[in-house]
Amino acid sequence: MEISKNARMVLEKRYLMKDENGEAMETVDGMFHRVANAIARGDLLHDENADVDATAAAFYHMMTELEFLPNSPTLMNAGRPLGQLSACFVLPVEDSMDSIFEAIKQAALIHKSGGGTGFSFSRLRPEGSTVNSTGGVASGPISFMRVFNMATEAVKQGGSRRGANMGILRIDHPDILKFIDCKADNKEITNFNISVGLTEAFMQAVETDGEYSLIEPHTGTVAGKYRARKVFDKIVDAAWRNGEPGIIFLDRLNRDNVVPKQGEIESTNPCGEQPLLPHESCNLGSVNLTKMLKESRTGYVFDWEKLKNTVKMAVHFLDNVIDVNKYPLEQIDYTTKQTRKIGLGVMGWADCLLMMGIPYNSEAAVELGEKVMKCITESGREASRKLAEQRGAFPLFEESILPQDMPQRNGTITTIAPTGTLSIIAGCSSGVEPIFGYVFIRNIMDGTELLEVNPILKKELERRGLYSEELMRKIAKEGTVAHIEELPEDLRRVFVSTHDISPSYHVRMQAAFQKYTDNAVSKTVNFSNYATREDVAEVYTQAFKLDCKGVTIYRDGSRNEQVLNIGKVK
Ligand code: CDP
Repeated sequence: MEISKNARMVLEKRYLMKDENGEAMETVDGMFHRVANAIARGDLLHDENADVDATAAAFYHMMTELEFLPNSPTLMNAGRPLGQLSACFVLPVEDSMDSIFEAIKQAALIHKSGGGTGFSFSRLRPEGSTVNSTGGVASGPISFMRVFNMATEAVKQGGSRRGANMGILRIDHPDILKFIDCKADNKEITNFNISVGLTEAFMQAVETDGEYSLIEPHTGTVAGKYRARKVFDKIVDAAWRNGEPGIIFLDRLNRDNVVPKQGEIESTNPCGEQPLLPHESCNLGSVNLTKMLKESRTGYVFDWEKLKNTVKMAVHFLDNVIDVNKYPLEQIDYTTKQTRKIGLGVMGWADCLLMMGIPYNSEAAVELGEKVMKCITESGREASRKLAEQRGAFPLFEESILPQDMPQRNGTITTIAPTGTLSIIAGCSSGVEPIFGYVFIRNIMDGTELLEVNPILKKELERRGLYSEELMRKIAKEGTVAHIEELPEDLRRVFVSTHDISPSYHVRMQAAFQKYTDNAVSKTVNFSNYATREDVAEVYTQAFKLDCKGVTIYRDGSRNEQVLNIGKVK
């Protein structure tokens, strides 16, 4: 199979089975066989005569062709003793010592197995309120978050990956202002992403410049009132300063809660794309859209049939994952199997647009994004209904809000994950994000420089006889293709990078994919360093109007240690 050096490195370092000396006990190919076989065996639970070998061969083919990959824990753990296959978990945190420290323990077990955890801290009584049993005062949600953070630091996921958490606090919690600022210093609470849970009522109060009430979570009484715009501006200011907190629209997560009788959705997984009930988990997988194209007389076009077939097989794969998964806790096993949520998404979207010659920041791209996701969700549902015919609908189907005449095997089908590692393995752009940069210069130890050029750009420049190292250095320095005047206009229009795209187009693309996604979309709206707070506020309002489920923003250069840089040598 064709994989890049980077992909091989990542797999060898973290994914392949190792012996006690740290030597790999399997090849990359062997890893895909291990995963395909383990997941295909799930068929036997429903049909003891199932042709497991044929299914395993189909799964293996889909993965090694890099058409579809399951989330990292599945690649790492399937067919191995640990066997924990999901990336996303949400744990309940009730207002008691027992519950708080139980959640910390459960999170530790999940992190050890490669999963990430989300928590709502909204039920914890605010700092300074009384503790009945001791007559002392409560520490409040932020102080407990630090304890969760330290536990995560100590576990470090047993060498597979660092623990990741999401911390959520409702906008009407009395400690909300402290929460908004709790990560003002980047060195604080580093194992958490944080998001403020906004309500429709709050957003309305922002619009009308009204007040809203703060509620004591443990008593339900009104603790005071804030002017909504003032708090909104505080969130904007904090996010403008260093990208945190993000926001999520709680009422929208609950509008799409398929089993409202089971309680409210209060949190998402660490990167925000998967809202879940307490003790629910979800496994994700992503279709590599660059492999869903075919060449026509006019260039690349979507191969809709191939996309539908891949989705169908992916839904079968992800449904099996639920059954062969070894859950870190009995309660998670039970809750997960009540709704059987899966999260199928995409990666390579920006690459696809490059191949098709469509600028990311164009009407055509937004429309196509919507069409692609519509196709995935519709064919995913069809596949899930077919599975329901053979395997039965998910146990809570009858009390769910889904159309009762069409039993489905899975409570939700689609989610768009960041695909941080998966996109490296597949060698494509991540999730639905635009391309960050086209050329990077890597310094090798002996002082030589290595040029890393986006393969789609390289191919196009070579085809036109325009490729040169000198030009690549110029692109690396500028950080963008769009401003290189000697390049033809059409090329500069199509090969846009993150910072050539207006924040408004970032949001529009997120909204386009969200429209046909059951769960949520992982996306960062990138701003240039000189963007203003008003620019950030406008994006929040736009995302709210376009029915997004949340927003994460990042202003270039606003953190000392930033993952990706433009115009700088790596
Ligand atoms: O590409 P990969 O499957 O490794 O993961 P991703 O798509 O970047 O992230 C998907 C989800 O995996 C995140 O939202 C988290 O729930 C979880 N995750 C984690 O727990 N720890 C990490 N270091 C990265 C991701």
